[in-house]
Amino acid sequence: MTPAAFITLEGIDGAGKTSHLERIRGWLTTQGIAFVQTREPGGTPLGETLRQLVLSQPMAPQTEALLMFAARSEHVTQVIAPALAAGKTVLSDRFSDASAAYQGGGRELGLTRIAELEAWTHAGLQPDLTLLFDLDPVIAAQRVAQGRSVQDRFEQEQLAFFERVRAAYLARVAAQPERFCVLDAARSIEHVGAQIILALQALQARRS
Ligand code: TYD
Repeated sequence: MTPAAFITLEGIDGAGKTSHLERIRGWLTTQGIAFVQTREPGGTPLGETLRQLVLSQPMAPQTEALLMFAARSEHVTQVIAPALAAGKTVLSDRFSDASAAYQGGGRELGLTRIAELEAWTHAGLQPDLTLLFDLDPVIAAQRVAQGRSVQDRFEQEQLAFFERVRAAYLARVAAQPERFCVLDAARSIEHVGAQIILALQALQARRS
């Protein structure tokens, strides 16, 4: 993939993106593509400290949004922009679509505020490819309940919250369809994995 690509993974909790990260790493490695794997909130020492706070401490929705973008600002400046400038592909487990979905949709802050924070934090930078793991929140909740003994603040939210998160993600797809690959996360790991490889190959073909 030349020049370096910015790839993000998104979806509601329990949609299965973590299971596919290893497969994506493997594909990038076999293609000989230099990459940096990172995550949000987090990705820097300050960002990881903020992650611990936002995942555990009760706070007002706007505080939550500002902390997500504070972590992101650091992440873009310290990790994402330098890696892309050095010709490395960046693979990030979540980015600003998560803020649009969780804070804009789930917490009902609306998209205008999120758009303002995006413009301030990373004007001109959007992912080249966003893999959206789309899943009915009822199924996702079952997966989260089976897989985790301790649930963070977001995973403990009710179904209506995740319905709003999912709808906000799909609104992002409608607004910027060119960079999204929407995956039906109800399908088997093999099927979803194959769709991901096709999307990565298409991105590589577009950029080489
Ligand atoms: P997640 O990727 O689900 O971590 P893990 O797989 O280790 O549980 O991310 C943590 C949570 O943070 C997730 O519930 C979504 C939330 N989040 C936001 O609400 N807004 C954001 O901007 C980001 C990046 C994440």
